[in-house]
Amino acid sequence: MPRKPIIAANWKMNMGPAEAAAFMDQFIPSMEGKALSCDVVIAPPFITIPTVTAKLQGNTTIAVAAQNVSDRDNGAFTGEISTTMLKELGVTYIILGHSERRQYYGETDAIINSKIKKAIADGFTPIFCIGETKDERLAGKLEEVLSTQLSGGLQDLTAEQTAAIVIAYEPVWAIGTGLTATSKEAQEAHAYIRQVIAKLYDTDTANQVRIQYGGSVKPGNVKELMAQPDIDGALVGGASLKPDSFAALVEFDR
Ligand code: PGA
Repeated sequence: MPRKPIIAANWKMNMGPAEAAAFMDQFIPSMEGKALSCDVVIAPPFITIPTVTAKLQGNTTIAVAAQNVSDRDNGAFTGEISTTMLKELGVTYIILGHSERRQYYGETDAIINSKIKKAIADGFTPIFCIGETKDERLAGKLEEVLSTQLSGGLQDLTAEQTAAIVIAYEPVWAIGTGLTATSKEAQEAHAYIRQVIAKLYDTDTANQVRIQYGGSVKPGNVKELMAQPDIDGALVGGASLKPDSFAALVEFDR
């Protein structure tokens, strides 16, 4: 079965409820009556999620993601948010292992693995982010970094569970910098990721898992990236903050 493309907006620490309401009031009508070929996901900050889901009432084509979650059920964990809370809000995807969480909040492969397992156990689809820094790429460590992050993050997952998650390849040097990996560089990394999944599991699993590219994706470069055989979608930060720009991204094939 061909992999269905998936385009996701990662709003990061942008868009409070008022700004998000204005975004949705413009974005939703602009999508009306359009048969999209991809899944569309929006990941607002936690506090903005209810505004976005309220605006989506009755809309089944746009899904909502969280940008993080706790690996605990509930209790004395100040500042954390649980899967139960996200479920109550209608969230279905959770971004995990984003390089900003790894870099600024000390999330290790083991922590990310624990969150991925919790998310899957409670019925969410993780968007599992991996990617190398510029220094790692220049030192020839791209493959080593990707395979370590993959085997660490996917530890204990069954082939069936891995086939159903979304992986986001985001070279750290391309995030928010305006520097995009060339479509050739991105394709090579994606093909390598599939090779690692095939080694950890089997070819079927590798062929089923959807792999997004992330890092300065814009309306002007999305088409070429999406034309690569192993690129199944995009995780978009900056260019997802404006309704017309995000609309152009989800209509990448028009
Ligand atoms: P960017 O962010 O599109 O602003 O580079 C992508 C991401 O970090 O998910």
